[in-house]
Amino acid sequence: MNLLKTIALLAGVAVYGLTIYACQPTELTVDIEQNFAALPQTVLDPADNPRTPGKVALGKMLFYDPVLSGNKDVACATCHHPNFGYTDGLDLPIGVGGEGLGPNRHFSAGQTTPRTKRNTPTLLNVAFNGMNTRGQYDPATAPMFFDLRARSLESQSLMPITTFEEMRGHVFTEASAIDSVLARLRAIPAYRTSFTTVFGGSAAISAQTLGKALAAYERTLLANNAPIDRYLRGDRAAMTPAQKRGMVLFVQNGCNTCHNGPMFSDYKTHVLGVADNDKLGYTDTGSNGAYAFRTPSLRNSALTAPYMHNGKQQSLADVLVFYDVVKDGTQLNSNVPVARLDSLLRPRVTRSNDLIEFLHALTDTTFDKSIPASVPSGLPVGGTIQ
Ligand code: HEC
Ligand code: HEC
Repeated sequence: MNLLKTIALLAGVAVYGLTIYACQPTELTVDIEQNFAALPQTVLDPADNPRTPGKVALGKMLFYDPVLSGNKDVACATCHHPNFGYTDGLDLPIGVGGEGLGPNRHFSAGQTTPRTKRNTPTLLNVAFNGMNTRGQYDPATAPMFFDLRARSLESQSLMPITTFEEMRGHVFTEASAIDSVLARLRAIPAYRTSFTTVFGGSAAISAQTLGKALAAYERTLLANNAPIDRYLRGDRAAMTPAQKRGMVLFVQNGCNTCHNGPMFSDYKTHVLGVADNDKLGYTDTGSNGAYAFRTPSLRNSALTAPYMHNGKQQSLADVLVFYDVVKDGTQLNSNVPVARLDSLLRPRVTRSNDLIEFLHALTDTTFDKSIPASVPSGLPVGGTIQ
């Protein structure tokens, strides 16, 4: 038997390298290869949007350029910023009408825009969204958002531009937002040149090419060399003893019934009954009004606090407390009766530091943190984030 395959937990101490034959009846073992898999080193593109260095460079400019927003003050990077693991460190994001970066971001005096409805997910490894337990995925139909309402990075990337509180604001109507932004881009010589070089043709700046360039850049935001990846590829020293113990607990607690595959998500929605966030001012009913939300990837979660679809839990320890409280049949959201909670929520939760250590082993801090020095519009890089 492969030594990598089995971790034996003996009297609370991880004895690494024991085979299953050596196990005493009191030992708790987990088949590692059966339950876990590393992320691949390369990324698939949809057939109609192959990556090229020029396309990725163009997408990066667009990602950091607030010219895509109505007031020219919000960029994709305002909420998805490398300093915060390509998220914003807030429970609910502040787009239009805000200033500052990360947890320091706040509404400017006198503005009336509401917060954005949901917690900002990281874009690290978003290229792998939809990956199943066998490592298969289709970038052309990859699921996006907590309620799975978008498919593929190409189509998702136009949506923040038309959303009022994210980027559009009062300047454009929803129907005219994309065309107005495209007209702005056509008026900037550096964008005209780049789009023509990358996509060719006389009408190189279109909604389609804008989406394609942004998506191509997003597919380069990888964090696929976490300790768990190195461990699963054969480097036994890549994870600490506590992380290895946590790995066993993760399976024993049934966490991997939903957080599975190389991305630690089944990309399905589940009813967990997380309490509403009062800052929103209304209840978020999730997918199809059923209070179901997509299982988030647990990759890089050490960098993406606060947690859940509305940032209700401040820390990973808080998340474990949440699961522990819910398993006792406590109703946390007055709109979600306990009987409607997902049956896969197991009646066993260990509030263990080892489990948190294991979640840290899913984080790879060596990702691309580079920010362009300037963007073609000449506007502040990343929007009003100073
Ligand atoms: C105001 C903050 C904000 C801005 C600006 C913003 N986003 Fe997001 N982004 C979010 C939030 C919040 C979600 C989750 C929404 C949901 O699930 O309903 C999200 C989700 C996403 C997702 C889906 C990730 C996943 O795993 O489901 C992608 C991809 C994405 N954004 C890319 C972009 C791009 C590209 C831009 C710029 C064109 C952008 N975002 C601008 C806040 C923002
Ligand atoms: C029934 C499926 C299911 C099970 C079992 C499950 N989770 Fe989750 N997990 C989810 C869903 C769905 C969410 C998002 C809920 C929401 O936002 O309302 C989530 C959210 C999380 C988050 C927050 C991630 C983020 O970025 O916001 C963490 C951390 C987490 N789970 C860890 C665990 C651990 C540890 C276990 C085992 C004790 C576990 N989960 C068991 C489905 C599950």
